[in-house]
Amino acid sequence: MLPTSKFLITAGPTREAIDPVRYITNHSSGKMGYAIAEAALKNGSQVTLVSGPVNLVPPENAKLVRIETTQELSEAVLQEFEAADCLIMAAAPADFRPKSYSDSKIKKSGAGLTIELEPTPDILRQVASLRRPGQVVVGFALETDNVIENAKRKLAQKQLDLIVVNSPTDQTGFNSETNCVTLIDQLGRVEEWELMPKAELAERLIQFVMKMNRQ
Ligand code: CTP
Repeated sequence: MLPTSKFLITAGPTREAIDPVRYITNHSSGKMGYAIAEAALKNGSQVTLVSGPVNLVPPENAKLVRIETTQELSEAVLQEFEAADCLIMAAAPADFRPKSYSDSKIKKSGAGLTIELEPTPDILRQVASLRRPGQVVVGFALETDNVIENAKRKLAQKQLDLIVVNSPTDQTGFNSETNCVTLIDQLGRVEEWELMPKAELAERLIQFVMKMNRQ
């Protein structure tokens, strides 16, 4: 890939509404995705950043697309993917959403409440069928058990070129400033990176990806 490449980067959580005041979400802060967007811009690339609701200042010079639900994230990614040389899916989409939405606030009745959930679209799987030769697709994975085995399975199922795996600890994961990741590529090569600030990790990841399809 050339320094002038076009990156499509996703970041942050999604929100799946239950009623006008409640939603399902997760702990993603968006920091990793935003750091990757900054690093790609610093490298001279064009960046489209598709962002869920986060508390971060968007990078200057990126095209910012704000989304709220996994469905909206999916639509934005599918729309922007064709023009991209590389997709980095750092977002943490909700895997489930309420099957029905209540237009008015659900009142408490004294009894419990059961909310039926349905799966959201798996965006990386949707993208897999649209790929043209030369496009690089990078996924993230958060694993707590059988880390390498599960990540290799995800890499294959989602037809990724590279998967960046993190396991949550005190110094890594959602809201921290540092992260410790393992990279696995399509050939099954495993590279463990030491704990480092997310900004540094982002720069190294961009350099790694830039070299990938030159090999
Ligand atoms: N992802 C996606 N669409 C979803 C959920 C996740 O494209 N609906 C992407 C994430 O952005 C990430 C990768 O898939 O790059 C792996 O996400 P992860 O949450 O680790 O895996 P899941 O596929 O959701 O599987 P599980 O939650 O069972 O581990």
